Amino acid sequence: MSSHGTPIPMISHKSGPLKGTANVPGDKSISHRSLILGAMSIGETKVTGLLEGQDVLDTGRAMQAFGAEVINHGDGQWSVHGVGVGGFAEPDQVIDCGNSGTGVRLIMGAMATSPIASTFTGDASLNSRPMGRITDPLALFGAQSFGRSEGRLPLTIIGAAEPVPVHYKTPVPSAQVKSAVLLAGLNAPGQTVVIEREATRDHSERMLRGFGADLSVEKTDEGNVITLMGQPELKAQNIVVPRDPSSAAFPVCAALIVEGSDVLVPNIGLNPTRAGLFYTLQEMGADLTFENPREEGGEPVADLRAKFSPNMKGIVVPAERAASMIDEYPILSIVASFAEGVTEMPGVKELRVKESDRIDAMAKGLRASGVNVAEGDDWWSVTGLGAGGVKGGITAASELDHRIAMSYMCLGMATQQPITIDDGGPIATSFPIFLTLMAELGANIEPT
Ligand code: S3P
Repeated sequence: MSSHGTPIPMISHKSGPLKGTANVPGDKSISHRSLILGAMSIGETKVTGLLEGQDVLDTGRAMQAFGAEVINHGDGQWSVHGVGVGGFAEPDQVIDCGNSGTGVRLIMGAMATSPIASTFTGDASLNSRPMGRITDPLALFGAQSFGRSEGRLPLTIIGAAEPVPVHYKTPVPSAQVKSAVLLAGLNAPGQTVVIEREATRDHSERMLRGFGADLSVEKTDEGNVITLMGQPELKAQNIVVPRDPSSAAFPVCAALIVEGSDVLVPNIGLNPTRAGLFYTLQEMGADLTFENPREEGGEPVADLRAKFSPNMKGIVVPAERAASMIDEYPILSIVASFAEGVTEMPGVKELRVKESDRIDAMAKGLRASGVNVAEGDDWWSVTGLGAGGVKGGITAASELDHRIAMSYMCLGMATQQPITIDDGGPIATSFPIFLTLMAELGANIEPT
């Protein structure tokens, strides 16, 4: 279902073996940032391999509403004619970011230091998510916001006419918060400083530098101190979007739990702020190898090969690794269900405020499938039943959350009885080719 569509129930049957090559789509985080930074630059930014998922398309539409020209040339080739830092026009419509927390939070940051007003909304999932974490730091720049209780959408931001730079310590580990502050800092005179105690994905820092911003990162006892000099002239870039490790996680994990599988997932970015899942799987004893490791566009990249792994063991996933795999816990909980022993996942409070409460959304379906799941406010654990040991035979709610929907579809490939989800529509937000790609590997998933 797109933001406002009809539910698409789907069923996943025991499958496999999964064999072949899985070319997953472009990185969602980098795709959003390509469009937003392209819109804030002077000249034509060319993007190759853009993720054409609904979340990113919504961001592209928003950039047009703020005055940039966004053109789809077909085949993942896009261009953005930017309006420059401080050049955003006031949109004449409400900005609908659909399901995308990244889209809305980054865009709110990008417009908050221009003298324009904008109203933002989204689907039921996005409109229930906390936005105070963004509007609080934006208020320090001088932006005003008027939203629903707890700062939730729909909300209106009136950008600061005379923004002041900000010194801000992020209260939660969030790349979206960090990025919103940095994007706001672009149009504030002087130095904006963001301090984050735990390192989160650093695409904004890398890309801002690539677009010509003066940005430095210093590692200190307090954490990473990121200093951005305001009011640069950003220059249009040519961007090749790497394939998304968060999407790669699904064919990789499915191969680990489906008997006889051997799947190659080429060209996956292994930026250390994103790659935590793959190291966790290796520690669990997964047959997962990094082939042909290399550097591309300044990022470590490798081809991942995943094979059926009947002897995985539960581990304690270090809490300090959480930020580098925050989107991968739902699919990790599926792998953990087929391992021997307990997988403990501490330090994951942020999972409660994603597109859904991801601990709750996974715990419900796993318990119904016969798996023991324990949980607290900021931790959960899964007691595995070993290879082939999960019963299944349930209908799970995807709760407007693409990663929950895809995780359950992977579960069904290895359970004794099929898994149904009430709505596979949200998958299109981040991985529109999921069904075809998995079918080509040998998965048996179909709309019901
Ligand atoms: C993202 C940051 C993360 C992640 C999301 C993408 C980004 O969110 O969950 O899918 O592109 O900055 P938080 O910043 O809320 O952790």
